[in-house]
Amino acid sequence: MLTWLGSVLVLVSICTGRAAASDDEQCLACHGEAGMKSESGRSLHVDAVTLKGSMHGTLGCTTCHQGVNGYPHPQPMRLPSCKSCHEEPAGQLPKSVHSMLGANACTSCHGKAHEVQAANKIVPSQCATCHSDAVHEYQLGSMPPPERAGSSKRQHV
Ligand code: HEC
Ligand code: HEC
Ligand code: HEC
Ligand code: HEC
Ligand code: HEC
Repeated sequence: MLTWLGSVLVLVSICTGRAAASDDEQCLACHGEAGMKSESGRSLHVDAVTLKGSMHGTLGCTTCHQGVNGYPHPQPMRLPSCKSCHEEPAGQLPKSVHSMLGANACTSCHGKAHEVQAANKIVPSQCATCHSDAVHEYQLGSMPPPERAGSSKRQHV
Protein backbone atom coordinates (compact mmCIF):
# COMPACT_ATOMS: atom_id res chain seq x y z
CA MET A 1 0.00 0.00 0.00
CA LEU A 2 1.21 3.47 -0.76
CA THR A 3 2.21 5.08 2.54
CA TRP A 4 0.99 8.57 1.73
CA LEU A 5 -2.46 7.42 0.71
CA GLY A 6 -3.84 7.04 4.24
CA SER A 7 -3.01 10.55 5.36
CA VAL A 8 -4.06 11.98 2.04
CA LEU A 9 -7.47 10.29 2.20
CA VAL A 10 -8.06 12.03 5.55
CA LEU A 11 -7.11 15.32 3.91
CA VAL A 12 -9.46 14.63 0.99
CA SER A 13 -12.40 13.86 3.26
CA ILE A 14 -11.78 17.17 5.04
CA CYS A 15 -11.69 18.95 1.66
CA THR A 16 -14.89 17.33 0.37
CA GLY A 17 -16.58 18.45 3.57
CA ARG A 18 -16.01 22.02 2.46
CA ALA A 19 -18.46 22.65 -0.35
CA ALA A 20 -16.37 25.48 -1.79
CA ALA A 21 -13.12 23.50 -2.14
CA SER A 22 -12.07 23.64 -5.77
CA ASP A 23 -11.82 20.49 -7.87
CA ASP A 24 -8.18 21.15 -8.64
CA GLU A 25 -7.28 21.32 -4.96
CA GLN A 26 -8.89 17.92 -4.48
CA CYS A 27 -6.81 16.40 -7.26
CA LEU A 28 -3.66 18.07 -5.99
CA ALA A 29 -4.21 16.78 -2.45
CA CYS A 30 -2.95 13.49 -3.89
CA HIS A 31 -1.16 14.33 -7.13
CA GLY A 32 0.55 17.41 -5.71
CA GLU A 33 2.40 15.15 -3.29
CA ALA A 34 6.10 15.02 -4.22
CA GLY A 35 7.24 11.56 -5.27
CA MET A 36 3.75 10.19 -5.90
CA LYS A 37 4.10 7.07 -8.06
CA SER A 38 1.93 4.37 -9.58
CA GLU A 39 2.36 0.80 -8.35
CA SER A 40 4.64 0.19 -11.34
CA GLY A 41 6.83 3.11 -10.25
CA ARG A 42 5.75 5.68 -12.86
CA SER A 43 5.51 9.24 -11.57
CA LEU A 44 1.96 10.49 -10.99
CA HIS A 45 3.17 13.73 -9.44
CA VAL A 46 1.76 16.96 -10.90
CA ASP A 47 3.77 20.12 -10.30
CA ALA A 48 1.04 22.71 -9.77
CA VAL A 49 3.41 25.65 -10.21
CA THR A 50 4.73 24.41 -13.56
CA LEU A 51 1.18 23.74 -14.74
CA LYS A 52 0.01 27.21 -13.69
CA GLY A 53 2.91 28.77 -15.57
CA SER A 54 2.15 26.81 -18.75
CA MET A 55 -0.19 27.77 -21.59
CA HIS A 56 -2.65 25.31 -20.04
CA GLY A 57 -2.52 27.02 -16.64
CA THR A 58 -5.98 28.50 -16.98
CA LEU A 59 -7.64 25.11 -17.53
CA GLY A 60 -8.98 23.00 -14.69
CA CYS A 61 -7.78 19.42 -14.27
CA THR A 62 -11.10 17.96 -15.32
CA THR A 63 -11.41 20.20 -18.38
CA CYS A 64 -8.85 17.80 -19.82
CA HIS A 65 -9.25 14.74 -17.60
CA GLN A 66 -12.94 14.34 -18.29
CA GLY A 67 -14.90 11.82 -16.31
CA VAL A 68 -12.46 11.86 -13.38
CA ASN A 69 -14.25 12.85 -10.20
CA GLY A 70 -12.31 12.38 -7.00
CA TYR A 71 -11.07 8.88 -6.15
CA PRO A 72 -11.33 5.95 -6.95
CA HIS A 73 -10.86 6.65 -10.64
CA PRO A 74 -12.68 5.09 -13.57
CA GLN A 75 -10.87 2.00 -14.90
CA PRO A 76 -9.42 1.99 -17.47
CA MET A 77 -8.68 5.70 -17.53
CA ARG A 78 -8.26 7.31 -20.91
CA LEU A 79 -5.64 10.07 -21.01
CA PRO A 80 -6.75 13.25 -22.82
CA SER A 81 -5.66 13.69 -26.43
CA CYS A 82 -4.28 16.96 -27.80
CA LYS A 83 -6.46 16.46 -30.85
CA SER A 84 -9.71 16.90 -28.92
CA CYS A 85 -8.90 20.61 -28.48
CA HIS A 86 -6.32 21.34 -31.19
CA GLU A 87 -8.07 19.95 -34.22
CA GLU A 88 -6.22 22.00 -36.80
CA PRO A 89 -2.59 21.16 -35.92
CA ALA A 90 -3.65 17.56 -35.32
CA GLY A 91 -5.31 17.44 -38.73
CA GLN A 92 -2.23 18.84 -40.45
CA LEU A 93 0.31 16.59 -38.78
CA PRO A 94 -0.41 13.49 -40.91
CA LYS A 95 0.63 15.51 -44.01
CA SER A 96 3.85 16.66 -42.34
CA VAL A 97 7.31 15.05 -42.36
CA HIS A 98 6.85 14.90 -38.62
CA SER A 99 4.01 12.40 -38.83
CA MET A 100 6.68 9.73 -38.43
CA LEU A 101 7.11 10.83 -34.82
CA GLY A 102 3.83 8.99 -34.22
CA ALA A 103 1.80 9.21 -31.03
CA ASN A 104 4.44 11.34 -29.28
CA ALA A 105 4.73 13.93 -32.05
CA CYS A 106 2.94 16.79 -30.27
CA THR A 107 4.76 16.42 -26.97
CA SER A 108 8.17 15.87 -28.57
CA CYS A 109 8.07 19.48 -29.82
CA HIS A 110 5.71 21.22 -27.37
CA GLY A 111 6.54 19.31 -24.21
CA LYS A 112 4.08 17.49 -21.98
CA ALA A 113 0.56 18.80 -21.52
CA HIS A 114 1.32 20.13 -18.03
CA GLU A 115 4.38 22.03 -19.32
CA VAL A 116 3.29 23.39 -22.72
CA GLN A 117 4.70 26.84 -23.49
CA ALA A 118 3.65 29.35 -26.17
CA ALA A 119 4.21 27.84 -29.61
CA ASN A 120 6.30 30.79 -30.75
CA LYS A 121 8.78 30.03 -27.97
CA ILE A 122 9.92 26.91 -29.82
CA VAL A 123 13.37 27.97 -30.96
CA PRO A 124 15.66 26.33 -33.52
CA SER A 125 17.83 24.96 -30.72
CA GLN A 126 14.90 22.81 -29.67
CA CYS A 127 14.44 21.53 -33.22
CA ALA A 128 18.15 20.78 -33.16
CA THR A 129 17.69 18.24 -30.35
CA CYS A 130 16.65 15.98 -33.23
CA HIS A 131 18.21 17.81 -36.19
CA SER A 132 21.85 18.34 -35.39
CA ASP A 133 23.54 18.03 -38.75
CA ALA A 134 24.56 20.94 -40.94
CA VAL A 135 21.92 20.28 -43.60
CA HIS A 136 19.14 20.52 -41.07
CA GLU A 137 20.67 23.61 -39.46
CA TYR A 138 20.30 25.26 -42.85
CA GLN A 139 16.70 24.10 -43.21
CA LEU A 140 15.88 25.26 -39.71
CA GLY A 141 16.95 28.73 -40.83
CA SER A 142 13.70 28.84 -42.77
CA MET A 143 11.62 29.00 -39.57
CA PRO A 144 8.77 29.71 -39.24
CA PRO A 145 7.33 27.05 -41.57
CA PRO A 146 6.51 28.17 -45.12
CA GLU A 147 3.01 28.92 -46.33
CA ARG A 148 1.14 26.19 -48.09
CA ALA A 149 1.19 26.66 -51.88
CA GLY A 150 -1.94 28.37 -53.15
CA SER A 151 -3.19 29.14 -49.67
CA SER A 152 -2.89 32.02 -47.26
CA LYS A 153 -3.05 29.51 -44.44
CA ARG A 154 0.13 28.44 -42.74
CA GLN A 155 0.84 24.76 -42.65
CA HIS A 156 1.75 23.48 -39.21
CA VAL A 157 5.28 21.98 -39.10
C1 HEC B 1 -7.09 10.01 -2.94
C2 HEC B 1 -6.02 10.32 -3.85
C3 HEC B 1 -6.37 10.78 -5.27
C4 HEC B 1 -7.17 11.83 -5.65
C5 HEC B 1 -8.03 12.75 -4.80
C6 HEC B 1 -7.06 11.92 -7.10
N1 HEC B 1 -6.23 10.93 -7.56
FE1 HEC B 1 -5.71 10.58 -9.50
N2 HEC B 1 -4.74 8.89 -8.97
C7 HEC B 1 -4.55 8.45 -7.66
C8 HEC B 1 -3.90 7.13 -7.69
C9 HEC B 1 -3.51 6.30 -6.47
C10 HEC B 1 -3.70 6.81 -9.06
C11 HEC B 1 -3.09 5.52 -9.63
C12 HEC B 1 -4.08 4.70 -10.42
C13 HEC B 1 -5.34 4.36 -9.64
O1 HEC B 1 -5.24 3.95 -8.48
O2 HEC B 1 -6.45 4.56 -10.20
C14 HEC B 1 -4.22 7.95 -9.83
C15 HEC B 1 -4.19 8.05 -11.20
C16 HEC B 1 -4.56 9.17 -11.93
C17 HEC B 1 -4.37 9.36 -13.34
C18 HEC B 1 -3.83 8.33 -14.31
C19 HEC B 1 -2.37 8.43 -14.50
C20 HEC B 1 -1.90 7.41 -15.46
O3 HEC B 1 -1.17 7.80 -16.35
O4 HEC B 1 -2.24 6.22 -15.31
C21 HEC B 1 -4.87 10.58 -13.68
C22 HEC B 1 -4.90 11.23 -15.05
C23 HEC B 1 -5.39 11.16 -12.47
N3 HEC B 1 -5.19 10.29 -11.42
C24 HEC B 1 -6.02 12.41 -12.39
C25 HEC B 1 -6.71 12.86 -11.30
C26 HEC B 1 -7.60 14.02 -11.29
C27 HEC B 1 -7.89 14.89 -12.50
C28 HEC B 1 -8.09 14.15 -10.03
C29 HEC B 1 -9.09 15.16 -9.51
C30 HEC B 1 -10.42 15.15 -10.16
C31 HEC B 1 -7.50 13.07 -9.23
N4 HEC B 1 -6.69 12.31 -10.03
C32 HEC B 1 -7.72 12.86 -7.86
C33 HEC B 1 -4.93 9.11 -6.50
C34 HEC B 1 -5.78 10.21 -6.48
C1 HEC C 1 -4.44 20.70 -21.08
C2 HEC C 1 -4.99 19.50 -20.57
C3 HEC C 1 -4.58 19.04 -19.18
C4 HEC C 1 -4.74 19.69 -17.97
C5 HEC C 1 -5.30 21.09 -17.72
C6 HEC C 1 -4.28 18.77 -16.96
N1 HEC C 1 -3.82 17.62 -17.54
FE1 HEC C 1 -3.06 16.00 -16.59
N2 HEC C 1 -2.50 15.19 -18.37
C7 HEC C 1 -2.88 15.66 -19.60
C8 HEC C 1 -2.31 14.79 -20.64
C9 HEC C 1 -2.48 14.95 -22.14
C10 HEC C 1 -1.58 13.79 -19.96
C11 HEC C 1 -0.76 12.63 -20.58
C12 HEC C 1 0.72 12.95 -20.52
C13 HEC C 1 1.07 14.07 -21.44
O1 HEC C 1 0.88 13.95 -22.65
O2 HEC C 1 1.55 15.13 -20.98
C14 HEC C 1 -1.74 14.07 -18.53
C15 HEC C 1 -1.18 13.29 -17.52
C16 HEC C 1 -1.58 13.35 -16.20
C17 HEC C 1 -1.22 12.41 -15.16
C18 HEC C 1 -0.36 11.16 -15.35
C19 HEC C 1 1.07 11.46 -14.97
C20 HEC C 1 1.80 12.22 -16.02
O3 HEC C 1 2.30 13.34 -15.73
O4 HEC C 1 1.90 11.73 -17.17
C21 HEC C 1 -1.80 12.84 -13.99
C22 HEC C 1 -1.72 12.17 -12.63
C23 HEC C 1 -2.51 14.07 -14.29
N3 HEC C 1 -2.35 14.35 -15.64
C24 HEC C 1 -3.22 14.83 -13.39
C25 HEC C 1 -3.62 16.15 -13.59
C26 HEC C 1 -4.06 17.07 -12.55
C27 HEC C 1 -4.18 16.70 -11.08
C28 HEC C 1 -4.35 18.26 -13.16
C29 HEC C 1 -4.80 19.57 -12.53
C30 HEC C 1 -3.98 20.10 -11.43
C31 HEC C 1 -4.11 18.08 -14.60
N4 HEC C 1 -3.66 16.80 -14.81
C32 HEC C 1 -4.31 19.03 -15.59
C33 HEC C 1 -3.65 16.78 -19.84
C34 HEC C 1 -3.98 17.73 -18.90
C1 HEC D 1 -9.23 20.55 -22.99
C2 HEC D 1 -8.62 21.18 -24.12
C3 HEC D 1 -7.12 21.05 -24.35
C4 HEC D 1 -6.35 19.91 -24.44
C5 HEC D 1 -6.78 18.46 -24.20
C6 HEC D 1 -5.03 20.36 -24.84
N1 HEC D 1 -5.01 21.72 -24.97
FE1 HEC D 1 -3.45 22.86 -25.60
N2 HEC D 1 -4.52 24.56 -25.22
C7 HEC D 1 -5.84 24.60 -24.85
C8 HEC D 1 -6.25 25.98 -24.69
C9 HEC D 1 -7.64 26.46 -24.30
C10 HEC D 1 -5.10 26.77 -24.98
C11 HEC D 1 -5.00 28.29 -24.97
C12 HEC D 1 -4.67 28.76 -23.58
C13 HEC D 1 -4.58 30.29 -23.56
O1 HEC D 1 -4.42 30.91 -24.62
O2 HEC D 1 -4.65 30.83 -22.45
C14 HEC D 1 -4.04 25.84 -25.32
C15 HEC D 1 -2.76 26.23 -25.70
C16 HEC D 1 -1.80 25.37 -26.26
C17 HEC D 1 -0.57 25.76 -26.89
C18 HEC D 1 -0.06 27.19 -27.08
C19 HEC D 1 -0.60 27.72 -28.38
C20 HEC D 1 -0.10 29.10 -28.72
O3 HEC D 1 -0.90 29.86 -29.31
O4 HEC D 1 1.05 29.43 -28.41
C21 HEC D 1 0.06 24.63 -27.31
C22 HEC D 1 1.39 24.55 -28.05
C23 HEC D 1 -0.78 23.52 -26.92
N3 HEC D 1 -1.90 23.99 -26.27
C24 HEC D 1 -0.45 22.20 -27.13
C25 HEC D 1 -1.16 21.12 -26.62
C26 HEC D 1 -0.69 19.75 -26.62
C27 HEC D 1 0.64 19.31 -27.20
C28 HEC D 1 -1.67 18.99 -26.03
C29 HEC D 1 -1.65 17.50 -25.75
C30 HEC D 1 -0.51 16.99 -24.98
C31 HEC D 1 -2.75 19.89 -25.66
N4 HEC D 1 -2.39 21.17 -26.01
C32 HEC D 1 -3.95 19.50 -25.05
C33 HEC D 1 -6.67 23.51 -24.69
C34 HEC D 1 -6.27 22.18 -24.67
C1 HEC E 1 8.19 19.39 -35.32
C2 HEC E 1 7.72 20.05 -34.12
C3 HEC E 1 6.23 20.14 -33.88
C4 HEC E 1 5.33 19.10 -33.82
C5 HEC E 1 5.57 17.62 -34.07
C6 HEC E 1 4.05 19.71 -33.45
N1 HEC E 1 4.20 21.07 -33.33
FE1 HEC E 1 2.73 22.40 -32.90
N2 HEC E 1 3.96 23.94 -33.37
C7 HEC E 1 5.30 23.82 -33.63
C8 HEC E 1 5.84 25.15 -33.94
C9 HEC E 1 7.29 25.47 -34.29
C10 HEC E 1 4.75 26.05 -33.86
C11 HEC E 1 4.77 27.58 -34.11
C12 HEC E 1 4.74 27.88 -35.57
C13 HEC E 1 3.45 27.50 -36.20
O1 HEC E 1 2.41 28.09 -35.87
O2 HEC E 1 3.44 26.57 -37.05
C14 HEC E 1 3.58 25.26 -33.49
C15 HEC E 1 2.30 25.76 -33.27
C16 HEC E 1 1.29 25.09 -32.59
C17 HEC E 1 0.08 25.67 -32.02
C18 HEC E 1 -0.31 27.15 -32.04
C19 HEC E 1 -0.71 27.59 -33.43
C20 HEC E 1 -1.88 26.87 -33.97
O3 HEC E 1 -1.78 26.34 -35.11
O4 HEC E 1 -2.93 26.79 -33.30
C21 HEC E 1 -0.64 24.65 -31.46
C22 HEC E 1 -1.96 24.75 -30.72
C23 HEC E 1 0.10 23.41 -31.70
N3 HEC E 1 1.27 23.72 -32.38
C24 HEC E 1 -0.28 22.17 -31.29
C25 HEC E 1 0.30 20.98 -31.75
C26 HEC E 1 -0.32 19.66 -31.66
C27 HEC E 1 -1.66 19.36 -31.01
C28 HEC E 1 0.56 18.79 -32.23
C29 HEC E 1 0.35 17.28 -32.47
C30 HEC E 1 -0.80 16.94 -33.29
C31 HEC E 1 1.73 19.54 -32.67
N4 HEC E 1 1.50 20.85 -32.38
C32 HEC E 1 2.87 18.99 -33.25
C33 HEC E 1 6.04 22.66 -33.59
C34 HEC E 1 5.51 21.37 -33.60
C1 HEC F 1 11.47 14.64 -31.77
C2 HEC F 1 12.36 14.83 -32.88
C3 HEC F 1 12.13 16.02 -33.79
C4 HEC F 1 11.99 17.34 -33.44
C5 HEC F 1 11.95 17.93 -32.02
C6 HEC F 1 11.90 18.07 -34.67
N1 HEC F 1 11.98 17.22 -35.74
FE1 HEC F 1 12.00 17.74 -37.73
N2 HEC F 1 12.09 15.79 -38.26
C7 HEC F 1 12.14 14.72 -37.39
C8 HEC F 1 12.08 13.49 -38.14
C9 HEC F 1 12.13 12.07 -37.56
C10 HEC F 1 12.02 13.86 -39.51
C11 HEC F 1 11.94 12.93 -40.72
C12 HEC F 1 13.30 12.35 -41.03
C13 HEC F 1 14.23 13.37 -41.56
O1 HEC F 1 14.03 13.84 -42.69
O2 HEC F 1 15.21 13.75 -40.87
C14 HEC F 1 12.03 15.31 -39.55
C15 HEC F 1 12.04 16.07 -40.72
C16 HEC F 1 12.11 17.44 -40.77
C17 HEC F 1 12.24 18.25 -41.97
C18 HEC F 1 12.33 17.69 -43.36
C19 HEC F 1 13.75 17.26 -43.56
C20 HEC F 1 13.99 16.63 -44.89
O3 HEC F 1 15.10 16.08 -45.00
O4 HEC F 1 13.14 16.69 -45.75
C21 HEC F 1 12.28 19.56 -41.60
C22 HEC F 1 12.40 20.78 -42.51
C23 HEC F 1 12.15 19.59 -40.16
N3 HEC F 1 12.08 18.31 -39.68
C24 HEC F 1 12.10 20.75 -39.40
C25 HEC F 1 11.94 20.80 -38.03
C26 HEC F 1 11.70 22.01 -37.27
C27 HEC F 1 11.59 23.40 -37.87
C28 HEC F 1 11.63 21.63 -35.97
C29 HEC F 1 11.38 22.51 -34.74
C30 HEC F 1 10.15 23.29 -34.77
C31 HEC F 1 11.77 20.19 -35.89
N4 HEC F 1 11.95 19.73 -37.16
C32 HEC F 1 11.75 19.44 -34.73
C33 HEC F 1 12.23 14.79 -36.02
C34 HEC F 1 12.12 15.95 -35.26
